[in-house]
Amino acid sequence: MCGIVAYIGEKQAYDVLIKGLKRLEYRGYDSAGVALLNNDLEVFKKQGKVADLEKTFNNKFPEGKIGIGHTRWATHGEPNDVNAHPHYSSDHNLAIIHNGIIENYASIKKELQSKGHQFSSETDSEVFIHFIEDIQKNNNCTLDEAVRIALTKVVGAYAIVIISKDNPDQLIAARKGSPLVVGIGEANGEFFLASDATPIVEYTKNVVYLNDEEIAIINRGVGINIKNIDSVEQSPYVHTLEMELEAIEKGGFDYFMLKEIFEQPRSVSDCMRGRLISEKDHALLGGIRRHLKDLVEAQRIIIVACGTSWHAGLVAEYVIEEITRTPVEVEYASEFRYRNPIVNKGDVLLAISQSGETADTLAAIELAKSKGAIILGVCNVVGSSIARASHEGAYTHAGPEIGVASTKAFTAQLTVLYIMALMLAKAKNTITDNQFKDLSRQLESIPEKINTVLSLNEEIEKISELYKDASNFLYLGRGYNFPVALEGALKLKEISYIHAEGYPAAEMKHGPIALIDEEMPVVVIATRDSSYDKIVSNIQEVKARKGKVIAIVTKGDALIPKMVDHVIEVPATHEAIMPLVSVIPLQLLSYHIAVMRGCNVDQPRNLAKSVTVE
Ligand code: F6R
Repeated sequence: MCGIVAYIGEKQAYDVLIKGLKRLEYRGYDSAGVALLNNDLEVFKKQGKVADLEKTFNNKFPEGKIGIGHTRWATHGEPNDVNAHPHYSSDHNLAIIHNGIIENYASIKKELQSKGHQFSSETDSEVFIHFIEDIQKNNNCTLDEAVRIALTKVVGAYAIVIISKDNPDQLIAARKGSPLVVGIGEANGEFFLASDATPIVEYTKNVVYLNDEEIAIINRGVGINIKNIDSVEQSPYVHTLEMELEAIEKGGFDYFMLKEIFEQPRSVSDCMRGRLISEKDHALLGGIRRHLKDLVEAQRIIIVACGTSWHAGLVAEYVIEEITRTPVEVEYASEFRYRNPIVNKGDVLLAISQSGETADTLAAIELAKSKGAIILGVCNVVGSSIARASHEGAYTHAGPEIGVASTKAFTAQLTVLYIMALMLAKAKNTITDNQFKDLSRQLESIPEKINTVLSLNEEIEKISELYKDASNFLYLGRGYNFPVALEGALKLKEISYIHAEGYPAAEMKHGPIALIDEEMPVVVIATRDSSYDKIVSNIQEVKARKGKVIAIVTKGDALIPKMVDHVIEVPATHEAIMPLVSVIPLQLLSYHIAVMRGCNVDQPRNLAKSVTVE
């Protein structure tokens, strides 16, 4: 949540900052701002999107070769011009951008107010920079030392960059709990800082990921020094980015979400490449192999995640229990971390996260780790906090996901989880050779099948037109398609703002059936599987109450099309991996409905891609 970007070098900082903020806008888009240091330290900020900020300059852009920028997802204080970042210190000599939350800001603010500090915003971030200013004045120390002292006193999460009028060749940055990447420019002594690598990749592939409680002191033309909060010098490890620029551009699509939906044949196959080869009976995830013994011996696996990643976890529960017979529990990370859960030494905790930054998932990991669990992470973002906090794990290799609604990350997560289940089943001998071959062959054919579903895009668009004005939707599924129903409902509600609920189809008669009338569209995922006959009965129950049914069926189904209002046919596959196919029409349905309702599908209201606050 919140995106931060900073630049120091020989380029005009404004261009780098604005371009970078646009790339980071998926992290928050309530307001945006930049601070540039030329002769003076000037802050420009505006409620709304980065484009709204740009307009305020009327094409006369501020100059300066050092600057900081921020795109906000509001936590403290409503989204308005004043609460937007950057924030000045009281003498306007310093400015800060901050991603995270300072939990003890109220007591610090009170103390500062008693010393005469006045605040113009309601934010914790403004308190943070006044606090640093106060420490520097009282201790008569360098800015980096004042930052260090402040960090020993604040409680919470932060990624910050500070710019100072007194030192026009220096930026100070620090992080704890919120991500921060430093790009080492190709020109001598040029540096880029950002919440993730997307604003950096077009300038350099050499990056340093700051660790928690590290402070970076970056001097133009000189270099980067990193020390920890105890003043101990750290040697920066320079990573090479594998990301390509095309991966973070729209490539001719109207929205990133649509591009990402259409990328799935490729992202699923990238995710399988080298890891699954049915002909060789090969299913292998390198990081997981190093903990395969722990997985085999585990009395249970606990899966923690949030949102869409939690839905992937539910599918994983079904398949892992079915083919490995290891008990699995799936928990919302936010519940798990606060409910004093039983975690035994040797339990395996599987954390699933696209961004690798979700605060609740990260906290659940730390809790389980402290109780002796082995932590395996399934993340998309390389080098992310969850990937680094895990003992081992597997990346999903879906490429950057920029649309706020998760699509290709979900199918890539499922792919990794299926491969993991196959590995474990083989190691535990709970699967026959034929079953292993069959499942892995079917997985290999998934990209082709996703392509087939994508070719139904126009058909799905026509169905969307009929239901775009609905106020409610119900999504029903059974077995492996139950998590898909939850995911379909989440996709619709988050980007179109239509109320939608996902339910196990059989639960309908325990309450939700009361909602059904001729106004209610009901999406039923009714592919041919072991619960087919049961879901046919559930469809009859909906039709008897005049609900409008959109059914996702297996190609060639002769029965359901006669009973329902619309059918979307998907290719047949093994029921355990059907979610990889059956979720695709639901992604397209919500996309088209949202576009038809005039919603910004890539940046839905109130949401952010990376949820770094609890
Ligand atoms: C929904 C969506 C969210 C995320 C959730 C977890 O489309 O994107 O529900 O799935 O915020 O995020 P990650 O996977 O980054 O931990």
